[in-house]
Amino acid sequence: MDEPISPINGSRPVPPPPTGSPLPPPPAADLGSLAPPSPGTAVELIEPTAPRDDLIIEARGLTKHYGSLKALDNVDLDIPKGSIFGIIGPNGAGKSTAFLILATLLTPTAGWARVCGHSPMAEPAAVRRRMGYMPDVMGVYENLTVKEYLEFHAATYHIERSEWPSLVGGLLELVDLDVKRDTIVDDLSRGMKQRLSLARALVHDPELLILDEPASGLDPRARIELRELLLQLQGMGKSIVISSHILAELQQMCDAIGVIEAGQLLASGPPGRILAQLGVGRSVRVRFGDGTVEEFPVAGDDEQQALLRKLIVDDDRAVLEFTTVDKNLEDLFLQITQGIVQ
Ligand SMILES: Nc1ncnc2c1ncn2[C@@H]1O[C@H](COP(=O)(O)OP(=O)(O)O)[C@@H](O)[C@H]1O
Ligand SMILES: [Mg+2]
Repeated sequence: MDEPISPINGSRPVPPPPTGSPLPPPPAADLGSLAPPSPGTAVELIEPTAPRDDLIIEARGLTKHYGSLKALDNVDLDIPKGSIFGIIGPNGAGKSTAFLILATLLTPTAGWARVCGHSPMAEPAAVRRRMGYMPDVMGVYENLTVKEYLEFHAATYHIERSEWPSLVGGLLELVDLDVKRDTIVDDLSRGMKQRLSLARALVHDPELLILDEPASGLDPRARIELRELLLQLQGMGKSIVISSHILAELQQMCDAIGVIEAGQLLASGPPGRILAQLGVGRSVRVRFGDGTVEEFPVAGDDEQQALLRKLIVDDDRAVLEFTTVDKNLEDLFLQITQGIVQ
């Protein structure tokens, strides 16, 4: 059974520096030069299309099997540079599996991907230099302070020690943790840990961020702050791929979303288009004089007005109430998980 293979996966804790020494010497190997995914699994490395400069991530037929389970099933992705792209799906849908593959930490069973112009399978070093990954679970870092934690990761990226103060200071300011710089990481609140984990993903100033459920477990205020921070990072020119269950938030923040369930990408594109494509956009609920209630799907304002005219002119029943129901991604998610949208 495959497992994530690199220490940059936060669910595999990076060992703390030895006691007595404030920080470890930089490891001998650059993160990017860590061993590529283990051989033995058949990997399709053929790239049938020419690289596209406008895309930060391209994937074709990405597939991952765990025994007979298809965790990821033939997924295609085209994610434009500079965009915030959201992946939505219920637990077990395959979101983390997809992210682990894109982040060079898991070998796919089949398919290929190009991340920041490079193959995560064939050129993991090049991908890791350009991409920052925030895992769904943060590792345990006993007795490291916030500042030491970021310095430790700066060291693993071979950033010069003389650059650490300004780098760490800038990151802590960005994620609003400067007052916590000397706090032990394990003593931080959940929201603060998430922000610190995001700062860690930014240590080497990557052009792409892959964030696995960064808002999970956060209170509403912390979620809003995270969203603002991600928009700020987008403003700085970074591309962001984010998975979440916080659908209303993704809808507001993402330029495009992909809906994934049981390893399959059901749809992808701008949130509005996805809703329309899946037929779960706007509908109109009408209560008639005879007590019946019916719901009519409508594509937009024009269709809604036409429906109202038709009901008043052509329908014998009196219309008592006429309510517009704008379904959002939350509704879509519910429909998907209930098997209503196939
Ligand atoms: N290492 C593993 N071994 C076996 N099955 C796994 C492994 N990792 C994930 N899975 C399974 O693959 C499916 C997709 O998991 P995951 O990608 O974590 O989904 P999500 O992140 O959307 O919740 C799930 O059914 C999960 O149980
Ligand atoms: Mg997950």
